[in-house]
Amino acid sequence: MKIKKYVLPVAGLGTRFLPATKAIPKEMLPVVDKPLIQYAVEEAAEAGAEQIILVTHPSKLALEDHFAVNSELESALIEKGKDELLQKVRSILPEGVTVTTVYQYEPLGLGHAVLCAKEIVGDEPFGVILPDVLVYNPEKGCMRQLADSYEQKGASIIGVETVPLDEVHKYGIVSLTERGEEKLQRMSGVVEKPPVEDAPSQLSVVGRYILTARVMELLESTERGAGGEIQLTDAIAALIAEEPVFAYAFDGTSYDCGYKYGYVRANIEYALRDGEIGDEVGQLIQKHAGGQHG
Ligand code: G1P
Repeated sequence: MKIKKYVLPVAGLGTRFLPATKAIPKEMLPVVDKPLIQYAVEEAAEAGAEQIILVTHPSKLALEDHFAVNSELESALIEKGKDELLQKVRSILPEGVTVTTVYQYEPLGLGHAVLCAKEIVGDEPFGVILPDVLVYNPEKGCMRQLADSYEQKGASIIGVETVPLDEVHKYGIVSLTERGEEKLQRMSGVVEKPPVEDAPSQLSVVGRYILTARVMELLESTERGAGGEIQLTDAIAALIAEEPVFAYAFDGTSYDCGYKYGYVRANIEYALRDGEIGDEVGQLIQKHAGGQHG
């Protein structure tokens, strides 16, 4: 079965990035010249998305505006003959993809955000992308890799990667039924942000999921967990008790733009890959590596 619906939870306050995120949603922060939310929508579209469900907050209208037609801007670009820019603006929403908005009024956590999309998702399996994590893979996006694994297994698939021990407390950490070398392995559990001494592994959840609709029902009875929030991780743990759930060690480089270092690293590495400014940025970095600052 093809995964057509992708939930993008974007209602969070973005406090780690204040003051930048006081008036601008954190998902509108650019990596080079594109906002984080757009990378996520493009990744979903590449995986075959037909409907993007933004779980957002009424104070974050810029996110909805980003995907709405701006006729005034388009007319101005047409008048000035700026065809390339016009094309960029018109292709913000990939062809064949629609955006639906649903509001999460209270910050009750990621699990609650996903639950807000229950009615729209219905009884189909669906994808979830956390836009503050970017995954770079120009050959095959992370979500596409998960969607392919779903085709193979017909079960929930969670994107994972190994993180250093001193970072396990920042993520959902999974345990596997067996230790093996395969990329796709059955999960036996998952815990949200464990202290290092309790972490079952160093395999972290990166913010890419394909989930069966059963998780929505489980979310309805999920109690507040880590940080006093309703955690998606806890509902996935409950799902594992009922049906097979797989961890997929995707190919690609992840950037956790929810933290300053990850965000700056993403900007540097995406800038180095940029056809227009890549060489210049490379020279700048070499200059600094040589110790000549300023
Ligand atoms: C969320 C999830 C966590 C996951 C992480 C990926 O946490 O709850 O399981 O590992 O995203 O970035 P957050 O970053 O919202 O605190």
